[in-house]
Amino acid sequence: MYKIPLIKPYLPEGTKEKVLEVLDSGYLTEGPVTAEFENIVKEFIGCGHVLAVTSCTTGLELALRALNIGPGHEVITADYTYPATADVIKIVGADAVIVDVSKDTMLIDYDALEKAITPKTKAIIPVSIFGNPLDYDRLDRIRKKYNVKIIEDAACSLGAEYKGGKAGTQADIAVFSLHPRKFLTSGEGGLVATNNPEWATWMNSYKHFGMGSATSRENTGFQMIGTNYKLSNILAAVALEQAKQIDVLLERRRQLAANYIDMLTGKNGVTLPAVTKGGLHSYQTFSIFVEERDHVMKSMREMGIEVQIGTYSLHMHNAFKQPGIRLEGNFDGSRYAFEHCLALPLYHEMELGQQKTVVRELLKLL
Ligand SMILES: Cc1ncc(COP(=O)(O)O)c(C=O)c1O
Repeated sequence: MYKIPLIKPYLPEGTKEKVLEVLDSGYLTEGPVTAEFENIVKEFIGCGHVLAVTSCTTGLELALRALNIGPGHEVITADYTYPATADVIKIVGADAVIVDVSKDTMLIDYDALEKAITPKTKAIIPVSIFGNPLDYDRLDRIRKKYNVKIIEDAACSLGAEYKGGKAGTQADIAVFSLHPRKFLTSGEGGLVATNNPEWATWMNSYKHFGMGSATSRENTGFQMIGTNYKLSNILAAVALEQAKQIDVLLERRRQLAANYIDMLTGKNGVTLPAVTKGGLHSYQTFSIFVEERDHVMKSMREMGIEVQIGTYSLHMHNAFKQPGIRLEGNFDGSRYAFEHCLALPLYHEMELGQQKTVVRELLKLL
């Protein structure tokens, strides 16, 4: 147990009652609570369709399948990410092309991305890592020029914005995670957002075993091969009250992030990552760069402050050194992020005093 944990899920009043209500109802699988949850998030994002699924990983796979991506195709993604982003490309049978990220934002290097495009490239999965929004002016130009689709791995970026548009409105399909590390959580789960009604209908059917009318309990027949990626009423109930307060939760995160920024700006040994120009960060994770990251991480943990690495550099892992995966470039940006990025504690109920303790102990070590 840490004195100051990295995260602490916030379950607002009414959550336990809602979960018990579902348990008492006997309607435990996907149903009306899931639909209510999807609707609240859809209204918040301002997109046409939101589908709840079992995880961000299955949501990304669903998105690739909806776009008919599979063997013979290439999909480009960023090296600095959670492995799931690239796993799904292989799961659908396509080739993965992995490119570097920019050292300052930790987002996909748009020049490297453009260079890696070939006639086989069907889609790009850029990652709005930690809640830092993607540059959609740039991505739109790439999308049009090369006729590729954009599936945003928005695991961390519910509420992030680029030029006033929320994550989930600019990609062809965007996928969010509801893992407990995320500020809106159902325990496990994901959300798929799109403005395209055909893809939404297809994905809804596919995640319901290929049923014709996916959300009713009537037997409408199975129109295609499908699978089961439904999010149960129980898990939707865990997230429902949080969803009703997304704005409040986001505002709180941004306030906590602003406190850290105030205390850390200009301090020796600390570099703050850059936010995309024109973007509004959601601060799913508050991260900084420090020189002796592993030493700092170990020492802070010993003091009861749970800090963590940012995420992984895929090219360093055997899973991504195999045929059908093209590693493009030298990955200087990704390696820098992997070695120097440090995630600081940030959770809804964190107090300013705790943030001051984190900063004080951090600065002592630098
Ligand atoms: C960038 C990124 N993509 C994908 C995932 C996978 O999400 P899930 O656990 O919901 O499948 C994560 C999980 O943390 C992530 O950070």
